[in-house]
Amino acid sequence: MTQAPREEVTSVKLLDVPRGNEPIRDEILAAIAKVVDSGSFLFGEDCKQLEETVAKISGAKFGIGCASGSDALLLSLMALGVGEGDEVIVPSFTFFATASAVTRLGAKPVFVDIEADTFNIDIDCVEAAITNHTKAIIPVHLFGQPVDMPRLVALTKKHSINIVEDAAQSIGASIGGKPIGGFGDLGCISFYPTKNLGGFGDGGMIVTNDESLRDDLRMLANHGMRPRYYHHVVGINSRLDSMQAAGLNVKIRHLDEMTSRRQANASLYSELFADRGLGWWIEDPRSAVGDGHVWNQYTVRVKHGQRDALAQHLQQNGMGCAIYYPIALHQQQCFLDLGIGEIELPETERATQEVLSLPIFPELQPQEIEAVVDSMQNFFVSQSRMAA
Ligand SMILES: Cc1ncc(COP(=O)(O)O)c(C=O)c1O
Repeated sequence: MTQAPREEVTSVKLLDVPRGNEPIRDEILAAIAKVVDSGSFLFGEDCKQLEETVAKISGAKFGIGCASGSDALLLSLMALGVGEGDEVIVPSFTFFATASAVTRLGAKPVFVDIEADTFNIDIDCVEAAITNHTKAIIPVHLFGQPVDMPRLVALTKKHSINIVEDAAQSIGASIGGKPIGGFGDLGCISFYPTKNLGGFGDGGMIVTNDESLRDDLRMLANHGMRPRYYHHVVGINSRLDSMQAAGLNVKIRHLDEMTSRRQANASLYSELFADRGLGWWIEDPRSAVGDGHVWNQYTVRVKHGQRDALAQHLQQNGMGCAIYYPIALHQQQCFLDLGIGEIELPETERATQEVLSLPIFPELQPQEIEAVVDSMQNFFVSQSRMAA
């Protein structure tokens, strides 16, 4: 029997959230319908169940749902008492929310550089940045890749500094089998729809092993109220609602499977880059600590100043890609008046010029990855010809 010719892939999306939700759509809708019928939209069983499951997979005792990953960071710093006069060490190569949580409390973000091979915060730079004012450090497990937490925890213990893990992009990531999120005092997770456990709107969670922090977080997320209508501090209103939790309780059952598929996709990219001899043009991302990278993003470095031209070529040819992040946080307009001065973070600045994220979502098919790599190869071949 002759095989039907394989259909040519003419475009590949960077993200395809509906494709991921489609196989479990009925289950999700049934779970959400149950909440609608119950009339109980906050603080219900669905929230409790999600908090317990997320805490467990993060190696922590408690989970505290909140409205977003950004709020999880803000609430965590509030619970640690971060405020004016305090310094919080953060990477400059990350999403804005990591640093805005610090400035919103009147504290000073101390931006430090990243490692060239992992894009994660450079722990040598963290050590050099510690002062008497350092209250906390926010390591970001960027793109799903764990920061070397055992090393960071050992460093902060020497100085009595708190750690708030920004695990927004890395639910399920681990180091030598131990999940991230529970290494620090607090771990912050985002359920933004494009995250590895993506909800149906905004949502977030904080995980912790500390009962007293858990209680403070519950109070802070509920207007600083304990008991009802008695306000100890000025908190915020930040809740994870039951509809989000119900949908996420369905999706979380598939998280391991989705993570494995992301890992397989990452391996296929690396194999194809090696097979095609593209190493002169691009550096594929490395998994440095343990095996627990969960690949929220597959981010390559494009060498020889070709990143923007390659991105344009891919987009013109229907291949999704994106630049996370085109500008470092220490160079953002809104932080210029913080008195951080003219700092130079060479690896961070180089990353903003060289990184390019390619499609990696779990449902991506091998032929789609090949199509992306084919398109990249076509671009590099044309560049070589021009140079010849
Ligand atoms: C590293 C990092 N921190 C924090 C956040 C904030 O999460 P959210 O969008 O849920 O507020 C994000 C989300 O984009 C993120 O990528």
